[in-house]
Amino acid sequence: MRTLVVYYSRSGNTRKAAAKLRDALSCDILEIDDGVKRNGIIGYFRCAVHAIKKKAFPLEPMDKDPSGYDMVVLCTPIWAGTMSTPIRSFVSRFKHQIKRHSIVCAQGSVKEQKIFAPMKEIMGREADARIWISDRWWKDGSADGRITEFASEIKAGISS
Ligand SMILES: Cc1cc2nc3c(=O)[nH]c(=O)nc-3n(C[C@H](O)[C@H](O)[C@H](O)COP(=O)(O)O)c2cc1C
Repeated sequence: MRTLVVYYSRSGNTRKAAAKLRDALSCDILEIDDGVKRNGIIGYFRCAVHAIKKKAFPLEPMDKDPSGYDMVVLCTPIWAGTMSTPIRSFVSRFKHQIKRHSIVCAQGSVKEQKIFAPMKEIMGREADARIWISDRWWKDGSADGRITEFASEIKAGISS
């Protein structure tokens, strides 16, 4: 079974989670970008406005094809309570090529954000597994263990 971890990260948390998951699953990883500038305070507001408006933009060229994988793990920061714009662009474009998917959210809150229903709406089906990693859990040291546990859940799901 082939697994691909796909992520977008503005400030590094989703990148960290995606890299740990890649190590735990011994699988391929793909960083996506749409070339939109999102640094600084203007970039912060741009993220929020684009997320609220459910914008999607063309993605920069990618060196991996999601259709060649049995499981795609979608890793996104939460912006204004929902998925980041590049991940929305990715799932909108590849929803018919992705066989099975799981979701990782990097977020400030420790509580579930409203991303899973909109993701299901785009993908047309439920994710196999899902997790959110609060920024606080990097600070208290519990993020690694949560990601390792999540990797086990994905592995068990893939082999069932
Ligand atoms: C524009 C913007 C909006 C955000 N909105 C939320 C939110 O609604 N809920 C939340 O829990 N975190 C929110 N966050 C916090 C990020 O999701 C969190 O810091 C995440 O770890 C960032 O991931 P990254 O470092 O990979 O970019 C927001 C961050 C940004 C930049």
